[in-house]
Amino acid sequence: MDVQSIKNRFGIIGNSPALNHALSTATQVANTDLSVLIAGESGVGKEAFSNIIHALSARKHNPFIAVNCGAIPEGTIDSELFGHEKGSFTGAVDSRKGYFETVNGGTIFLDEIGEMPLGTQARLLRVLETGEFIRVGSSKVQKTDVRVIAATNRDLLEHTQNGKFREDLYYRLSTVPIRVPALRDRKEDIPLLFRKFSSDFAERYKTQSVQLDAGAQQSLVNYPWPGNVRELKNIAEQISVLSTDKNITSESFKAFIPQRETSRSLALMPPATAPSAGPQSNEYTSNTERDILYKLFFDLKKDMNEMKQMLFELVHHQGGFTPPQPVAEAALLPATYNNNEAPAVIPQSYNNGTPILIQPNDHRVDHHEDVEESLMLADREKEFIVKALKKHKGRRRDAANELGISERTLYRKIKEYDIVE
Ligand SMILES: Nc1ncnc2c1ncn2[C@@H]1O[C@H](COP(=O)(O)OP(=O)(O)OP(=O)(O)O)[C@@H](O)[C@H]1O
Ligand SMILES: [Mg+2]
Repeated sequence: MDVQSIKNRFGIIGNSPALNHALSTATQVANTDLSVLIAGESGVGKEAFSNIIHALSARKHNPFIAVNCGAIPEGTIDSELFGHEKGSFTGAVDSRKGYFETVNGGTIFLDEIGEMPLGTQARLLRVLETGEFIRVGSSKVQKTDVRVIAATNRDLLEHTQNGKFREDLYYRLSTVPIRVPALRDRKEDIPLLFRKFSSDFAERYKTQSVQLDAGAQQSLVNYPWPGNVRELKNIAEQISVLSTDKNITSESFKAFIPQRETSRSLALMPPATAPSAGPQSNEYTSNTERDILYKLFFDLKKDMNEMKQMLFELVHHQGGFTPPQPVAEAALLPATYNNNEAPAVIPQSYNNGTPILIQPNDHRVDHHEDVEESLMLADREKEFIVKALKKHKGRRRDAANELGISERTLYRKIKEYDIVE
């Protein structure tokens, strides 16, 4: 199948030599059983490559499964991938097959492979080298025939140097590396992508498609697109939905582009009210204040989690109840607050001016209000995560840093709240 037909079939837009090269490598390697490592920055379009490789392989009628290694808690990833025996750990009430067993004959796409824990990496290396695996808690060696495609937006080689990724696995996986180029390195694809996205959105929202004038075209191409195609798609959607004038000038285009890319001390969102005509410094000051409040909020949540951890450990050691899951993996904000939990004060600005005070043994707060407040806090949490992701153009690592949570927790939150990036 030639590159153009692949693009048509998988909805891939672009005609730059670097993209075409990546696509033709994918086509060539598809029909072999070699492992493939798809590398590229966040948002460049790595996911479609795994579909292409499977769909053009001899395994196309067999199962294909995509597993996001960053989204599965560290404690369960071995069992998810390789299965477990009954009683092999607390909660393993039944034995269970893992993906390497159920997908026998097919393809497994291991997305975000850089997040895979070292122990799981050892099991993966074994299955890649010998086709053998062992369920957690078993001693029986089993055979499987699974093709592995992996993807990462990390520098895996750097990970091998700092001990986070096994070097032998890295070389085993990257038998055929495919590098999906960043958008700024294939500028000729930018106008094509924008045109396609804006016409798709115009159709979806039943409006007229936006048109960029020469200046706007220039700004579109010159913007560095740190969030790559994902960011371009988001901006195309915003412009399509929010522009009343469908003729876009450079000025109006720039209004949709983040202006202060480089500053780390920026707020997660623009001012809630329309920016006043006042001096720039006012806007900056209020943004910085908001930023500090966000930080305060997340620090508070971290403290709360630490206190919960201590409490769980204490209760656990005294033979009390067993927590349903480790606190590190638990929600940043619990679904309900109970009397065991430490008081938490949420800054007023997070609740439209009304302070939220949750205190143990506070009988003024009845159960109903308690739950409502909790739900509202969960909403707030989702809101912050969406904003942080937006601010960092979908770069989860940076968003997680900003929020003061681990990337793994962020992945889980994205899934839990159904956040569309
Ligand atoms: N060449 C392309 N043509 C059309 N759409 C594209 C293209 N490349 C990417 N996209 C779209 O951009 C979005 C982001 O792509 P994708 O999810 O594959 O990114 P990714 O490289 O896997 O990023 P991450 O590392 O963050 O997971 C998707 O909606 C995808 O459909
Ligand atoms: Mg991806």
